Amino acid sequence: MPILTTLEERLGTSLASVVEVVGFDLGHSGTRTARRYVKGADNPDQLAISGRQNQPTAIRYDQQGTPVIGHAAIMGVSAEMNLTLGFKAPPSNDPRYRKLMRDWVKAIYDIHVRDKQIEGGAETCFIVGCPSGWSEEWVQQYQALLTGAGVPLLAVARESRAALMEAYESQLINLGEAEKRVLMIDLGSLTADISLLSGREERPYDDGGPLGASLIDKAILEYTLARHKDRARLQDAFERYPGFRARCEYHCRLAKEEYFNGPELYQTWDSPVDIGTVNVQNRYQFKAPVCKPMMEEILSQPLVTIEGRRFTWPDALRWILQRVKQRLRENKSRPETIVLVGGASQMGFVGQICSEVFSDVPWRRGKEPVLSVSLGLARVGRVDILTIGFVEEIRRFLDSELPGLVQELVPVLTDALSKALAKSLIDRVIMPCLKEWRDGKLATINDMSARVQQSAQVWLQSDEARQQIGEVVSEWLTGPVQRKIAERTNPICSRYRLPTGSLTLTGSTFLPSSGGVSDLGVSDPTVLSGLITAIVGIIIYILGFVIMAILEVTGPIGWIISLVLIVVATIGGATAVYEWMQNRNIPVSLRKVTLSDGRLEKNLGEMRSKTEDQLRETFKAKPELTAQMVEEISRELREALEKTADRARYLAS
Ligand SMILES: Nc1ncnc2c1ncn2[C@@H]1O[C@H](COP(=O)(O)OP(=O)(O)OP(=O)(O)O)[C@@H](O)[C@H]1O
Ligand SMILES: [Mg+2]
Repeated sequence: MPILTTLEERLGTSLASVVEVVGFDLGHSGTRTARRYVKGADNPDQLAISGRQNQPTAIRYDQQGTPVIGHAAIMGVSAEMNLTLGFKAPPSNDPRYRKLMRDWVKAIYDIHVRDKQIEGGAETCFIVGCPSGWSEEWVQQYQALLTGAGVPLLAVARESRAALMEAYESQLINLGEAEKRVLMIDLGSLTADISLLSGREERPYDDGGPLGASLIDKAILEYTLARHKDRARLQDAFERYPGFRARCEYHCRLAKEEYFNGPELYQTWDSPVDIGTVNVQNRYQFKAPVCKPMMEEILSQPLVTIEGRRFTWPDALRWILQRVKQRLRENKSRPETIVLVGGASQMGFVGQICSEVFSDVPWRRGKEPVLSVSLGLARVGRVDILTIGFVEEIRRFLDSELPGLVQELVPVLTDALSKALAKSLIDRVIMPCLKEWRDGKLATINDMSARVQQSAQVWLQSDEARQQIGEVVSEWLTGPVQRKIAERTNPICSRYRLPTGSLTLTGSTFLPSSGGVSDLGVSDPTVLSGLITAIVGIIIYILGFVIMAILEVTGPIGWIISLVLIVVATIGGATAVYEWMQNRNIPVSLRKVTLSDGRLEKNLGEMRSKTEDQLRETFKAKPELTAQMVEEISRELREALEKTADRARYLAS
């Protein structure tokens, strides 16, 4: 998929009639929805079903086959009912899974429309979240699956991106933090989704393997069951009627949440959490007495298996975070901020473990980390809709104007390159070769010319050359290129109420309208540095030909001789020396006298400027080489600008 696509293209339909976006966070344990109007400056509203903003992802069917969902499905379960929980999974062809997913999404949609919380139809666009590690293919399959549910407009977006947007918009993190590298840790019921976000780049780092908080609920269930006076009968009931097990596990989950909301209230066995009891078959009472001693015991049991090793829940988290830290180190990366989202991030020890592993990185957690993904998805979808026209205009600029702009500016680049390289070619390549010839290590001028060719190519591949060319390219990009791009794209940005300068390569992702380039520096350094590296590669390749072409332009060995002549001319008789030099193996003694170190040194400036002219002329004389540069640089620049525009559109207000 191209980098810069509009939501309309992703959905294959017009979104002109959409007035609201619903962020739909479909989790393993719970589902949350939030609505954001496309127009206006309000924050998204959290939606609710029967007063609940976080509905357990649970479904059962009544006798007519109508789905009963969420809390009601679990609470009203009886022996004969088939309750299904935790069915959210990556897309697959399993017909049962497909039906459950579609019924779930459609049921939520229908209830919201029925309760007049949303308009529905062509006025409402749903944005459903997915984990950061899912491939593009999975995302598309998931979108196709859920579109089949009968919600007219539905797209899939990544949860981590949404959580970042929510963190910034709700001022949990500030502009500077949002711009840099944020490690998003989403601790959910089934997995721990950990990814690094910087600018528009997103990199999944860990899916947390099996580290889900539902393992703790299951452990509470087992713990309670093992000590229950009717243990055998309860176990029997659970086996025969799995709905009861699910109901009791849900009870354990709620008890756990209550405990972590205020552990200081439940210090001893005498003061456990009290959230009522579950009545199993009207015969047995199930109640999980969650309190500190119980939780301590459960958190010291080996509940999690990772790569064949058993860990306690906190140790598993520690181990996974260490693994992330190691992977970050391997990628020479380091987060600036950690944002914790997901319900399980509310367990007190999670923050402590974060601080322990990433001791020098501050972490933040919002007031309601369970809701942030749905709120963020609503924001992301709205921006996608607001910027459809922006994306189209930018693409028109990239298609029709960018190549001409590069063509216009490539002479500025070749000029700057000629200047910078002439000095290095003389100092690093020509001088050493001249001295070798002078000292008799090379027999003839022809030998010297061959040596110059060869060492010029070697030098071009050196780090020093890369660095030097990189500096020239960087100045060119952030100077004239950036200015021209801003000139043409600023009016587009203003039309979409984006800050001017947001499409320049050093522009800012989130910067409010400041009328210029970000004072925070490069917003997404990877885009600019990647672009520079790519262009340097192109230039090194082209320069290889330019240096060879100098010979064609100046005639065989003409360039080298012209440089020698500069030195020789100062001692007179230049023409005679010239003819003589071309054909003869000049005695070393004469070479040493003519090309003494002092004389070479004295004429250095002139030799450099001669080489500079030579490079310039060669660029002019070889339009096919500059044409190739224009084409390849345009392609790279286009990609970088597409990434930048894709980031910039999240500034739309
Ligand atoms: N206040 C709380 N204290 C501790 N744990 C909590 C709290 N609130 C929710 N949780 C736990 O967080 C988990 C659910 O988190 P969340 O709703 O983010 O997951 P999910 O999105 O449903 O799952 P996943 O992301 O794995 O698909 C559950 O195990 C739940 O019990
Ligand atoms: Mg989740």
